[in-house]
Amino acid sequence: MTRKLGSGSLVIATHNTGKLKEISALLEPHGLNCISAGSLGLPEPAETGKTFVENALIKARSASEASGMVALADDSGLSVDALGGRPGVYTADWAERQWFEGEPGRDWYMAMGKVEGLLTENGPDTPRDAAFHCVLALVWPDGEHAVYEGLAPGSLSWPPRGTMGFGYDPVFVPEGSELTFAELDPEQKHRISHRADAFAKLVADQFGG
Ligand code: IMP
Repeated sequence: MTRKLGSGSLVIATHNTGKLKEISALLEPHGLNCISAGSLGLPEPAETGKTFVENALIKARSASEASGMVALADDSGLSVDALGGRPGVYTADWAERQWFEGEPGRDWYMAMGKVEGLLTENGPDTPRDAAFHCVLALVWPDGEHAVYEGLAPGSLSWPPRGTMGFGYDPVFVPEGSELTFAELDPEQKHRISHRADAFAKLVADQFGG
């Protein structure tokens, strides 16, 4: 049986305030006080893992060791079947553009184009199946851990459609829908997303539903 969180404080291993808000809203009703790694000034470890699970564990372990508290981290990305699971853990890296006019940044259109270019190179019959993955890792100060994996299966379409969401949302059509993630209302997306799936598993296991 998985170790249980109980109540108390939990470090969320993110420096992204949007993620902290979303995660706090889900966990605080269960009596947990969520504190971000950013607000504690904890370092951000290098994400050197080869899988989403490895990277989520690296981030949660680092935050737990540095704070002495239970830590929760997530790692997510897009896996394309015909590309052997790429970009996978490199999903954000594929959007990294060179320094441009003195500014570093991410170009999601370029990243989506890179995926599309590789699929096109493989020929017109290349399957377009893909899935967003989200892994949540909980790590206790004594090193014990629990991992929850969420999935949103679907396929890739081209050209990009829709203006909502972020990242690769404009080319991802979730299973059972004709709209891309970027054309769906955020509430609809959040009901079926890989993140919702992973959190549902965590909540069911930790708090019984
Ligand atoms: P990380 O988990 O914050 O490292 O994010 C990895 C990358 O995966 C993000 O920068 C996004 O590009 C991509 N990604 C994760 N979730 C989504 C999503 O719901 N829609 C679009 N892209 C996503």
